[in-house]
Amino acid sequence: MMRRAPEDPTRTRRDAPPWRWLGTPSPPRYGRWTALFGLVMLAGLLVLIGGRVPTPALSTEDGMATHAPVLAAVRVTPRSEAERETVLTRAIDVWSEHVAEPTLDVVLDPEGLAWLHTQGLAWQVLVPDVEAVAAAERERLEAVAVAEAQRPPTPDQWFSEYRDLPAIHAYLEDLAALRPDLATVQTLGTSLQGRPLLALRIHGQGGGQAGGQGESQHQPRRRMLIDSGLHAREWISMMVTTCVADRLVRGYADDPRLRRFVDEVELVVLPVSNPDGYEHSWHRDRYWRKNRRDEHGVDLNRNFGLAWGGEGSSDKPASQVYRGSAPFSEPESQAIASAMEAERFDAHVDFHSYGQLLLHPWSHTKKPAADHAYLHALAKDMGDAIRAQHGERYRLIAGASLYPAAGTLMDWAYGTRGTPSFVIELRPRGGTGFVLPPEQIRPTCDEGLAAVLALAEGLAP
Ligand code: ARG
Ligand code: ZN
Repeated sequence: MMRRAPEDPTRTRRDAPPWRWLGTPSPPRYGRWTALFGLVMLAGLLVLIGGRVPTPALSTEDGMATHAPVLAAVRVTPRSEAERETVLTRAIDVWSEHVAEPTLDVVLDPEGLAWLHTQGLAWQVLVPDVEAVAAAERERLEAVAVAEAQRPPTPDQWFSEYRDLPAIHAYLEDLAALRPDLATVQTLGTSLQGRPLLALRIHGQGGGQAGGQGESQHQPRRRMLIDSGLHAREWISMMVTTCVADRLVRGYADDPRLRRFVDEVELVVLPVSNPDGYEHSWHRDRYWRKNRRDEHGVDLNRNFGLAWGGEGSSDKPASQVYRGSAPFSEPESQAIASAMEAERFDAHVDFHSYGQLLLHPWSHTKKPAADHAYLHALAKDMGDAIRAQHGERYRLIAGASLYPAAGTLMDWAYGTRGTPSFVIELRPRGGTGFVLPPEQIRPTCDEGLAAVLALAEGLAP
């Protein structure tokens, strides 16, 4: 896949269609003659295959992709702030930035890799060919779709694969239909392109309102919100929150700990906060992050109205951390904020991937939060509970100590609503980045559920 050279020196990733899709503007970095040569070759190839025009839906025609440069994801350790900025300038895409270590996971084209070789700084390859990984993933998913058209997945098999937006939304409806006494589907808002932000409210047998029959006599019922998918390419996060909902609804009948949670906590689960982006990631570009505003999209997790515009966000539309034109310029962030304003949540977790991290406020400043010790203790409870599952370590850290990010949901929830709020960056720690083998969905779900239960149990009375 070829992409235009960055216009924004930092954190750019453009929505240029893959080379194999016709109509791609010639990438300036490769020069006019190379592009012309490519076009001639492409035209020749088209004639050879009988004039058939490849469509985006048939983008596995990899014969067409032979001219695309190999894009590699690498973890780089810059030695200075200037060096960090230079690496970012070279990057086709930014996957993650850590200031504390400091490391940078970036996608580079062959030119960028060649440059890196000459710089003498430490780096390692994470994924040698990110488009090959995405293509293999797409092929597997297509095969799964064919097989499942014959034989639909059982509930147990459902979590052995990644699921697209319609499947996740249908699954939430199924859970509500299975236990209408425990759960209700609710639309929290509508995306830019008109898709619903569908949530499952798990209210227990007390009905739809906290304070109902299920409430124990001594303790008012808690409310929690968990959401995921603000970033479209972080597929494991959507699977984990859907799976947490599944475990609670199905486990209610015979798991006392889950039953207690459901009876005592009203939990709203919003698996796909960015449905337009998620659809785009499934069908057009596996590594798409932002929503679908205009050509470039807005990073929804920089669009919330606390410290909007600050460090770790960009005013350049091409940037992966583009904050949008104003706080809450996007309907998706608005809808989430309205949902949190409509009722008081006692805790909130925003699931992301990847990195195996437990982040607590603040994100926009290194100043410790007023409740730093409390928030850190809650995060530690979650981390211990996660580790007890499969031995995986998730690192605890205040968001900004890792890297500053302004306009995040976590900061807005904590800063304006006083809600203890966390970001959990799920598996993997590094490795394959956003494409996690599907066998890891269930174990990662064990970790997500353990964290949610530990958080509820750790909240101050
Ligand atoms: N990966 C998330 C993002 O980029 C994390 C934000 C949390 N805050 C932070 N300072 N790291 O939006
Ligand atoms: Zn994210």
